[in-house]
Order: sequence, then structure tokens, then C-alpha cells
Amino acid sequence: MNILLTGKNGQVGWELQRTLLPLGRVHAFGHAELDLADAAAVRRTLDEVRPQVIVNAAAYTAVDKAESEPEQANAVNAAAPALLAQEAAKRGALLIHYSTDYVYDGAKAAPYVETDPTGPLGAYGRSKLAGEVGVQVSGADHLIFRTSWVYAARGANFLRTILRLAAEREELRIVADQVGAPTWARLIAEATAHALRQALQERSSGTFDSGVFHLTAAGETSWHGFASAIVEGRQGLRVKTVTPIATADYPLPAARPANSRLDTGAFRARFGLTLPDWREGLQLCLEEIPQ
Ligand SMILES: NC(=O)c1ccc[n+]([C@@H]2O[C@H](COP(=O)([O-])OP(=O)(O)OC[C@H]3O[C@@H](n4cnc5c(N)ncnc54)[C@H](OP(=O)(O)O)[C@@H]3O)[C@@H](O)[C@H]2O)c1
Repeated sequence: MNILLTGKNGQVGWELQRTLLPLGRVHAFGHAELDLADAAAVRRTLDEVRPQVIVNAAAYTAVDKAESEPEQANAVNAAAPALLAQEAAKRGALLIHYSTDYVYDGAKAAPYVETDPTGPLGAYGRSKLAGEVGVQVSGADHLIFRTSWVYAARGANFLRTILRLAAEREELRIVADQVGAPTWARLIAEATAHALRQALQERSSGTFDSGVFHLTAAGETSWHGFASAIVEGRQGLRVKTVTPIATADYPLPAARPANSRLDTGAFRARFGLTLPDWREGLQLCLEEIPQ
């Protein structure tokens, strides 16, 4: 079985290169080898690889920059998934695609379920929601996983930023009024491989249903709670205090949802996996980052 993986150098894509390995021949592409904004290149690559499964881990993830360049965000997050899905439909391939908590406005007082109304606050969230819709209307068999607050031992992410700043400064001031679940990229990749294995069996027995599922670590915290846990999990840092601040005290170009909590009950019911608490992933990931 041929699996086409995009975004191989991203946080999730990097981990998927390993977790997809037992499932088939993985043809992995980074941005330099395949620009998803180039429709002709996408079609050419699909002709060459002839995948039975497409896993789209590529995305335009610069949330603040997207406010000033929404066309670029849309090209990668909306047009490209729609194209991949249309091609998957033509070719009878299964598409796995990722989306985000940023499709919600964050005003709900409880964790979101997949059927809750969406209402993105910014250009990134709008582009990702448009990508979901493009996949859903394509007619391709698909699974869309909405995740949140992704971190990994490599790449640009909150965990690595906190480790760097905590080694330089005595005080960190971190937003405490946004809640969500920090999710290790490896957890997403492992859960994806598990779900894909089941989806392939369902497809061969004619019982597969496409759908959108929340896929995050269990539990919840704020960015301040996440930063505090990172600092506590590390020896020899310079930082002495992690001070909670309000979102309003740290203005950024893109508005963020105050509530990013995603209920993963539907994923558990469909794929039989109980997702571990966010602290477990953090501890394992910290062990992989040299002191
Ligand atoms: N990061 C988060 O906190 C978060 C939260 C919720 C959902 N998600 C979703 O989870 C998925 C995986 O995210 P991630 O954190 O792994 O993202 P990431 O680390 O930013 O990786 C995304 C990858 O996509 C590549 N890419 C960007 N534009 C491309 C293009 N035009 N053609 C081909 N490749 C392109 C990037 O390459 P370059 O860097 O070379 O451009 C990068 O390697 C995405 O769908 C994202 O929207 C992420």
C-alpha cells in the first residue's frame, strides 16, 4: 500500500514518518519537494505515487502572520486540502487531514463537541475551517482530526520557546485565561496510525464512515499552567517566577479562543483509544530534549 505524506518536516509530519511505517510504503514530502500551493505539482506527485492513503500534515500554521497574508494561508489550508480530497475521491484513496481548535470561537463554557457550531476568530481558523469543508464536500473517504496546542521536541512551538526563555530570564509572564490541552505531536501520530489501521479494515469490509474527530491529550490547563509544568520538569533553569497574565496584557495580531477544550469522546468511541493526560506526553517529550 502506498501512503503519501505531506508536511514531513512539521511537528506532526515528522512523527508520522515513523508511525505510518508499519502500515505501508510511506512516500513523504516536505515543502521543498512538494509545494501544496502548486496544483499541477500536487497532481503530478499523486500520479507518480498512486497512493491508497493520503495523510496531509502540511499546513500554514503561522497564526498571527495569517492575519496579514490570508491568501497564503488559504492556499495551503483551504485550497490544497480541497484539491487533495477531490483527487482522493477520483482515485478511491482515503484522506486523513488535520484541523484545529481555532475553528471555534472559544465562547462555550464546556469542552467543544464536534457538532458544536464553528466560528473562527481569525484568518488562520477561517482557512482551516474552509479546508475542512473542502474535504467534506469532495466525496472522498476522509478522517479529519481537530487537535490543539501541538508541541514536539523539534520545530517552533510553545514548549521550546518556554525552555529557551526560562534559561535566559528570571520571570516569565504567561497568559492564564486561555484553556486547552497541550498535545504532543507523537500522540497525534500514534493515534493517527491506530485510526488508519482501523479505517482500512472498515473500508475493506464496507463499513467505513467519514467524519471529523477531536484528537487531543486528556485534561486541561492554561498556557500559564503549561509553562509552569515545563519549568517544573526541568533542572537548572534561570527562571524563578512564572507570573499569570491576562490575554489583554499580551496583545497579538490574531485573536485566540479563550476555551480550546475539545471533547474526545467521539474519537474514543469510534477508535477505542483513551488518550493520555497532557502531563504524560510532556514528561516523555522533555526526556527527549537534551539539557
Ligand atoms: N501547531 C499547533 O499548535 C496546531 C494546533 C491545532 C492544529 N494544528 C494542525 O495540525 C496539523 C499539523 O501541524 P504542525 O504543528 O505539525 O505544523 P508545522 O509544524 O507548522 O508543520 C507544517 C508543515 O507544513 C509545511 N508547509 C507549509 N506550507 C506548505 C506548502 N505550501 N506546501 C507544502 N508544505 C507546506 C511546513 O513547511 P515549511 O515550514 O517549510 O513551510 C511545515 O513543515 C496542521 O493541520 C495544523 O493546522 C496545529
